[in-house]
Parts: sequence; structure tokens; C-alpha cells
Amino acid sequence: MAYFDHGASSWPKPGPVVDAVVRALTELGGNPGRGAYALALASSRAILEARRACATLLGVPDTRDLLFQSGCTAACNLMLKGSLRPGDRVVVGSMEHNAVARPLAHLARAGVEVVVVKADPTGLVDPADVEREVGAAPTRAVVCQHASNLTGTVQLIGDLADIAHEHGALMLVDGAQGAGHLDVDLASLAPDAYATSGHKGMLGPQGIGLLYLVPGLELEVQIEGGTGGGASDSLEMPAERPDRYEAGTANTPGIVGLGAAAALLKAEGATLRAAEAELVRRLHEGVLAIEGFRVLGPPPGVPRVPIVTVVHDTLDSDRIAYELDRAYGIAARAGLHCTPWAHETVGTLECGAVRFGVGWGNTAEQVDTVLSALRELAS
Ligand SMILES: Cc1ncc(COP(=O)(O)O)c(C=O)c1O
Repeated sequence: MAYFDHGASSWPKPGPVVDAVVRALTELGGNPGRGAYALALASSRAILEARRACATLLGVPDTRDLLFQSGCTAACNLMLKGSLRPGDRVVVGSMEHNAVARPLAHLARAGVEVVVVKADPTGLVDPADVEREVGAAPTRAVVCQHASNLTGTVQLIGDLADIAHEHGALMLVDGAQGAGHLDVDLASLAPDAYATSGHKGMLGPQGIGLLYLVPGLELEVQIEGGTGGGASDSLEMPAERPDRYEAGTANTPGIVGLGAAAALLKAEGATLRAAEAELVRRLHEGVLAIEGFRVLGPPPGVPRVPIVTVVHDTLDSDRIAYELDRAYGIAARAGLHCTPWAHETVGTLECGAVRFGVGWGNTAEQVDTVLSALRELAS
């Protein structure tokens, strides 16, 4: 089987990640932060080390500013619902995933004004358009993804953050498709919050994600409960990070696996990214050479995360993905990819598209298998 759905979840997981998860399940049985006996302390220590590895990878100076969440969806919900109030105004790009679009729709029903800035046909949100909207009325936040899960387009987050900050607004980023695939340095990118998945480009297990919060930004807590440690007699959540935003027993195997993935990416990320970029170039140029197919997003040569999404003039996207799986053993994803906004932006809401999410473990031979399959299907 040739797995080309890394945009949904990376697979298979690297050996060190698998080993770390197994170690957590077999050796770290104690509940982290809930006990002073050796087994519980070992879990706490392993989580501390994983947080340090993730912070080092993502350029976060203080590990306490990096919160473990159950995924990017949970992180986006906390980021948005925790920072926006009725009466606030938010400016958002039109390429967002439902992990952002749905919480914003919820907030809009509660009285938050949501202004959507349409991206260009390649999926790029023009900072000048955002600046115009942010300057038009007092704005609490600019919200934008780091990269599109439909087109692979990389957004100009640094420029958008500058615009937001010049107007006294927060910069809130959905980095699900950025972290791991891009060299993310949050200290220089300077968002106020950055949510990401642990199981996509980050190469960790499913069920774990991260939320970075700039020092000083406090969110309204969304989940209250036990945090271990001191002050258990208080009915208020602790003020300190990360405990304030991490109520309940931690996903120790997921966190420890993500920590191992972050350490691996720190050591070998540049090599992995170069290999991914070469496969993406091969696939992108190869698809463009097949009559009837086009590729969404930026043209070859323009930076993108490793996503190549294709549309055929006449063939149905669901049918293509079905045949790829059935006849060629290729796992690729058709449909709307949980991002109807992005499909609407690039004009594929009606026809859908077939997404090839390239990643760790893919080979040039697998890319060539995809290309010959598409050639046959189009002939
Ligand atoms: C851009 C984007 N945001 C958010 C998510 C949700 O991530 P998670 O599955 O970790 O909740 C995804 C997942 O596909 C995504 O592509």
C-alpha cells in the first residue's frame, strides 16, 4: 500500500516514536502529577522532557507556554473561545479548516463579528487585504492558518502578525499543517497563539496536539478539573501554565511519543523536509504533464507544504480516490477535507478534489505509481 494521506495523519510512525509510546505504556504507569511515588514521578518527568523537546523544536523559550491538548481541534477551540467575547471583531482568512470555521461560527452566533478575507485563487491570503479590514474597525484578533490542508499554500504569518500587532490585535494561528513540515520558530514568527496537531507533520501519535500561548495572554479556561499539584482545595483553576489549561489525566503515551517525534525532527527535520520537497516537486510536475488534470494551489517552485491536490476536468474525485485504492493500493483522500471554505475559495466546492499528502516514508517509486495510475485513469 502506498500511503498518501499524511495531511490527515502521518503513517507509519518512526521507530523512536513507537518505542517511546510502548515505553510509556509499559514503564510509565503512574498518573503524572498525581503522586509522589516513583512510578508517578517518572511519568511527570517524561512529560516534562517531552514538553522541552517540543518547545526546543518550535522555538518556544519557556516550556510552560506550550500546552498539551488532545489535538489541533481542541487547541483551536481553546485559542478562539478562550480569547474572543461577544462584541469582539475578528478578521480571518477564507482558507480555514472547520477546526477554526466551526468555533468561529459558534462565536458569531454568540455575538462575535467575523470578517472573512478571501484568499486568491492559489489559496494565499494577501496581507494587504487583511490590513485593510483590520484598519476598518477595532479588531480583537487576526486568525489565519499557517498552511492550507487543501492547497498546501503557506500563508505569510510573519507579515500578518506584524499587521495584527500594529493595530493592537492578537495573531491566532492554526498551525496543523505547518509544524513539522515547515521550520517553525515561534519566537521570531511572533503569533500570540499557535495551535497544532501532534500527529501530522509532527510525526507523533494521534490524540495529541499543542497550543503555544505568548507570555501574558490569558484565555478563558474551557475545561475545568483536577490538575494535581498544589492548591487542590481551591475551586478555581490554578493561574499557572500549563496546569491552568491541562485539567484531567494527561495522555502520557501520546505526549511521550510526540516528545520523541520532536527530538527526531530537531535532529533530522531538515533532511526529511528536503526529501518531502523533492517528492512533491516530482508529483506536482508529473500531474501537470497529464492531460485533463490540474493541481490546486501555488505553481511549482513556490513554497508549499507537502500536499498536492488534483482535480480532473471530467472524472469524479470520489471515483478517482476509490479506483486508486481499489486497483492500485494508493491511499489518497477525496471529498472536501473538512474545509468547505477553502474549496469555495478555490472553486472546487461542487467537484471536490483528490489530495495526496506526501510525508515521511514515501518514496519516488510510490510517486511514480501514483502518476502512472492517474495516467491510466485519465486515458
Ligand atoms: C488546517 C487544519 N487545522 C486543523 C486540523 C485538525 O487537527 P486535529 O486532527 O489534530 O484535531 C486539521 C486536520 O486535518 C487541519 O488540516
